[in-house]
Order: sequence, then C-alpha cells, then structure tokens
Amino acid sequence: MRYEKLGRTDLTVSVVCQGTWSVATKDIFWDGQDRGDSLAAIRAGLDAGVNFFDTAPAYGNGESEEILGEALGLRRREVVVATKVPPTDLEPDKLRQSCERSLRALRSDYIDLLQIHWPSKTLPLEPTWRTLEALQREGKVRHIGVSNFGTSFLGVLAQLGRAESNQLPYSLLWRAVEFAIQPLCVANKMSILCYSPLAQGLLTGKFRTADEVPEKRARTRLFSASRKMTRHGEAGFEQETFAVLAGIRRVADDLGQPMGRVALAWLLAQPGVTSAIVGARNATQAVENVAAADLCLDADVIARLAGITEPLKQKLGSNADPWEHISRMERP
Ligand SMILES: NC(=O)c1ccc[n+]([C@@H]2O[C@H](COP(=O)([O-])OP(=O)(O)OC[C@H]3O[C@@H](n4cnc5c(N)ncnc54)[C@H](OP(=O)(O)O)[C@@H]3O)[C@@H](O)[C@H]2O)c1
Repeated sequence: MRYEKLGRTDLTVSVVCQGTWSVATKDIFWDGQDRGDSLAAIRAGLDAGVNFFDTAPAYGNGESEEILGEALGLRRREVVVATKVPPTDLEPDKLRQSCERSLRALRSDYIDLLQIHWPSKTLPLEPTWRTLEALQREGKVRHIGVSNFGTSFLGVLAQLGRAESNQLPYSLLWRAVEFAIQPLCVANKMSILCYSPLAQGLLTGKFRTADEVPEKRARTRLFSASRKMTRHGEAGFEQETFAVLAGIRRVADDLGQPMGRVALAWLLAQPGVTSAIVGARNATQAVENVAAADLCLDADVIARLAGITEPLKQKLGSNADPWEHISRMERP
C-alpha cells in the first residue's frame, strides 16, 4: 500500500480508500448484500493496509456507518474515517444532529473527515460552514471536506474557509472533472478523492453489454434514458462505453493485469488524486482492489488509456454529475 497526505492536514491516508456504500444490506441501490461479507470486506481491507474508509448517513440510512463502526471495533484509532452530511441536514441544528448520529453509529467520539455530501442549491453555504468549523473546534470533527463541489461552489467556499478534500466522480469512464474542477483542486492543494473509480464495476470488465448491467447501476449518463432508473433524459453513450471498455481490456491483457486494477492504477496517477474510494462487497474484492496501489503504469500506458477514453470524455462534456442532465448542473 502507498500512503499520501490528505490536503494540508497531518493525516496520512492509503491511496486505496475503501468505500462502504455497497456494504449496507438495506441500501436501495445495491441488492443482495450479506452483512457477514460486509464485515469481512472491511477487515480484509484493514489487514491489507487500508487505513482510510468512506461512508455516509445516506448509505442504507445509517447502516453503512454502523457496519463500519462494528467492523473497525478496537482498531478505530488506527484509521481515518470519512463520513458526510446529507443535503437534507445542512442547516446548523440538523447538521449537529446528523453529526451526533454518525458518531453513535460509528462508535466513535470523533470523525476524521466530515464532508458536505452535495452542495445545496437553495441554502447559503455560510451557516453550514460555520457549524462545521464549530464542530471542529469542539473536537468532534478533525477536518472538513466537501463532495460534488464544482467550480462555482468552490468559488463560494473560497470566501469562507478551507476544505481539505473534494470527493468527485472520477474514473477512466468519467473524466468530466478534468475540464475545470481538477485543476482548481490541484491549485488549492485540495485532495481529490475519486468516487465510483470502477464505474460501479464496469471497469472490472464483468459486464460485456449494457443489458447485463443491473438497472440500479445503469443510471448514469453513460446509459440511455430508456433504462428504467435514469433521470437525466439523455440518449446516453452505451455503444461508445462498451467500445472503450474493450479497448481498456486490450491494454490490461497486454500488461497481463486485471482490468479493474489497471483502471485504478491509471486513476491514482492523475494530478491531484490522493485516493480512489473503491467499493468492495466482500473480502476478495477488497484484497484485489488494494493491489492497484502497487501497480505503477508506464507513461506510455497511461497515455494509451487516456487516448482510448478521450472521445467519450469529449462527448460527455464537463457536466460532472453522473446522474443529472446538464441543464440541472450546479448554480449556487
Ligand atoms: N460522494 C458521493 O456522492 C459518492 C457517490 C458514489 C459513491 N461514493 C463513495 O465511493 C465509493 C465507491 O463508489 P461506488 O461504490 O459507487 O463504485 P465503485 O467503487 O466503482 O464500484 C464498487 C462496486 O464494484 C464491484 N467491485 C468492486 N471491486 C471489485 C472487484 N475487485 N472485482 C469485481 N467487482 C468489484 C462491487 O459490486 P458488485 O460485486 O455487485 O459488482 C462494488 O460494490 C462508495 O462506496 C462511496 O463510499 C460517493
């Protein structure tokens, strides 16, 4: 495992951060999860060198935080726990209550990194920010981060204070952040924490066609609006996506490496990226994902992968929200 500094903090975090959305057994977007597998996934990640875990109250309505708290047990202090405040709880009182609920679920008296899950399109940021700072002064929160903040919200934030990290959707199939958000994070030494780095499993190569992808995952702008659970209303890029996946598979085969591992290694080589937050539903996946930290790709391989995905990046454009139509992009 490799470790990096988180933003300008004194925290050192593993470049593979373990995501815990899909470990919740009652989450609406992930089916058939076994709690025993969830606990084993987290403990396997820990044993393999992961010291950074990401969760949120939104994942299984608090269940992901509970599972993480139980799995960590007495090892809590060895790791960096990142959780979030949901968009419904950004007003000061609600934010405090959300933080207390997270602490209880996590069985901890502090949160290492508390992140605003999504910026509010209606509430001003300042009261939320000041409450986060107060929680930090009280020792309940060590550092503050944001998630899904584009350039305009980052501009508002810059007037108020400093976030150490911005959690963003970023993978070989989802490079929208490269247009403007990533350079801004780099300039501000704000760690980029990449979510859905395997594009929810697509980049492991496990699905050969769009029809094989579970409908709860076929929701992003990669997929056609005819897929039941989409809300973006766009035509999607299914053919292009699977052509790109075939190209990535060829590179992985040439290297003799699993495709998911190559995709994660590419991501970890990008500017400003501190960690890839990879979801693992069982111990085998957790151990496999950790291996990406030790795969160093040559510059020509990194360029070849970027070249394969560039046309799709251009077609998708700069709308970083994986699920939403461009007309509903952020406007603070
Ligand atoms: N801030 C935000 O708004 C936001 C949004 C999304 C996610 N996140 C965070 O980012 C984390 C990761 O994102 P994600 O879960 O959306 O996507 P992901 O990490 O790209 O994909 C995770 C899924 O891929 C499959 N998988 C993982 N490792 C695998 C392996 N080695 N081989 C084969 N399949 C494998 C598993 O599902 P199957 O086994 O069922 O295929 C797993 O649940 C989340 O857990 C969460 O912490 C944050």
